[in-house]
Amino acid sequence: MTIEEAIVYGKKYVHSIDAKMLLSNVTSIDTLDLINHLHDFLTLEQENKYKELLDKKINDRPIQYITNSVDFYGLPLYIDENVLIPRFETEELVDNTIKYLNSMFEKPKVLDLCCGSGAIGLAIKSRINDANIYMSDISKEALIVAEKNKNDLFLESKIIESDLFNNINEKFDCIISNPPYIRDDEEIEDIVRNNEPHLALFGGPDGLDYYERILKDIKKFLNDKYLIAFEIGANQKDDVINIANKYLENIEITCKKDLSNRDRMIFITNKE
Ligand SMILES: C[S@@+](CC[C@H](N)C(=O)[O-])C[C@H]1O[C@@H](n2cnc3c(N)ncnc32)[C@H](O)[C@@H]1O
Repeated sequence: MTIEEAIVYGKKYVHSIDAKMLLSNVTSIDTLDLINHLHDFLTLEQENKYKELLDKKINDRPIQYITNSVDFYGLPLYIDENVLIPRFETEELVDNTIKYLNSMFEKPKVLDLCCGSGAIGLAIKSRINDANIYMSDISKEALIVAEKNKNDLFLESKIIESDLFNNINEKFDCIISNPPYIRDDEEIEDIVRNNEPHLALFGGPDGLDYYERILKDIKKFLNDKYLIAFEIGANQKDDVINIANKYLENIEITCKKDLSNRDRMIFITNKE
């Protein structure tokens, strides 16, 4: 079977983008470059692997769990069912946070709270070499993934198993978090509900439990000059701002929109 025939075959069952991503995974040819290899033949092993991956995709598993990979902020991350698939909006959170960090600190000490795969902490480390990165999560299984990514990518960082701040004993310049924030009764796509860890998704009856728990205790873990960066759900801006004002004094709060014009990031700094 040639690559062209494999695409045609795959398109009978899945979206052509997914067929190309699976082919890219088995051939190690970039998806955009497949067009230059349409007449190449797959080996029998590649063809069998491709059909096996198609089978899994047909059973409606996210492609990232099938290929065990995702590109996040230019980093090739290992991903499996124990961690949330890092999202594009989170790259925007990282991007904005890096700008804040560069303007505020020389060698920022950063805690990525609820780190999952380590996407946020490792992406920051990849761009700010002098950053001192800590990553924590309650899930042992997620931390195995974070550890693998840290080692595979040679990005120095410390990993701590912790229920929010329970095992954290240090202070930081920046605490960044993309905590679970979906309302327990929110309608979400089946492919998400049926595949991604619920521990990574749901944030209580109004989706705000984690912001409340984090902001209640956060001051003890921050240096005098600090940055807090949160990803938030599209309708949570006012609630998260209220929670921040309840627990913190003398702060400046900035909400930023994502590329789809939704309020998705909150940055909190102390007034000097
Ligand atoms: C929305 S995911 C974010 C993962 C990753 N930071 C990202 O952006 O892709 C939330 C993470 O919070 C973790 N988590 C849930 N409850 C926690 C708790 N009580 N303490 C620490 N981490 C927790 C989950 O295991 C999950 O990895």
